[in-house]
Amino acid sequence: MNKLKDFFQTELPKINFVLKKELQVLNPMVREVGEHVLLAGGKRLRPVLTILTSRCLGKTKEDIYPLACSLEFLHSATLIHDDILDNADLRRGRECTHLVFGIKRAVLAGDALLALANMLVAKYDIPAMNYCVAEAILKTVTGEVEEIDNLRNPFMDEAVYLEIIRGKTAFLIQAACACGAMVSGVSRDVLKRVSSFGMNLGVAFQLVDDALDYAVDAELLGKPHGNDIREGKITLPLILFLKSLSKQERQVLLEKISANSLDEKQTQDIISSIQKAGLDQKVRNEAQVYLKEAMDSLLTFPVSRERDLLEEMLEMVKTRNF
Ligand code: FPP
Ligand code: MG
Repeated sequence: MNKLKDFFQTELPKINFVLKKELQVLNPMVREVGEHVLLAGGKRLRPVLTILTSRCLGKTKEDIYPLACSLEFLHSATLIHDDILDNADLRRGRECTHLVFGIKRAVLAGDALLALANMLVAKYDIPAMNYCVAEAILKTVTGEVEEIDNLRNPFMDEAVYLEIIRGKTAFLIQAACACGAMVSGVSRDVLKRVSSFGMNLGVAFQLVDDALDYAVDAELLGKPHGNDIREGKITLPLILFLKSLSKQERQVLLEKISANSLDEKQTQDIISSIQKAGLDQKVRNEAQVYLKEAMDSLLTFPVSRERDLLEEMLEMVKTRNF
């Protein structure tokens, strides 16, 4: 995994430089908000994926960084809006933008970053890439809408859950990979395999994220732990926990979740039961199924240093604990 760490270390300053530079076109009202969320850190997973897939699949004369950064701008826009919708306090270890700058500036900053991202992608003049990003945005919004529509839904099941995480997380990760491939001018067939790689990686990433929500210290995570159940989000660890209960126990718990009447002690008890039953690990095991699919696609890419790094990326998603 050291080679991937070295790669991140080499690429991060370049990515951060371009992020900062491109932000300068924004009105200071929204630019400061963007800087607050973007310069607070973040894994830069999406831009790194664009860079790696592009270099792995061909050589492009284009400067890849604005394209890579557009995916990070999009991701940040969704986080700003998501934190407003979730009424969240902390993001990347910092107070959320709407609390620091107020809701109006935060909403507008999300809109501005969304527009900036689209503008950067359009500059490459590849219509299929514009479509890919627009589609990913629509799928992301749809995933978020479906998640909100299913908050505290007692009939929530694994199929609906998977549909939601494909939308709210995996499509943007898929687009990050597909954009890297498209800017390198790959064939339709290669693009299909890159997209499948990105989609499976994205689903695995969110599965691990949802496992971590039940298993990791707030400090490591940069946001409070046990958030999902408090927000009424029925993610896979909770779905598995509900499945493990007797019919009667399940009924009682589902009623409390639906009525939003769990107190803090009951919430903590559920979190520790999920940890004790190792359900977070079970969710990680499920993530491995998707990582294996991603690996199958990856192995069809040309052998290269970048392919090795993408392989390490799969390992990183599998083992990450923050
Ligand atoms: C984080 O999920 C949120 C997302 C992955 C997507 C949010 C999408 C939107 C708000 C709609 C689209 C917005 C734009 C600007 C296109 P989470 O709440 O489970 O994770 P968290 O614990 O990190 O908040
Ligand atoms: Mg959230």
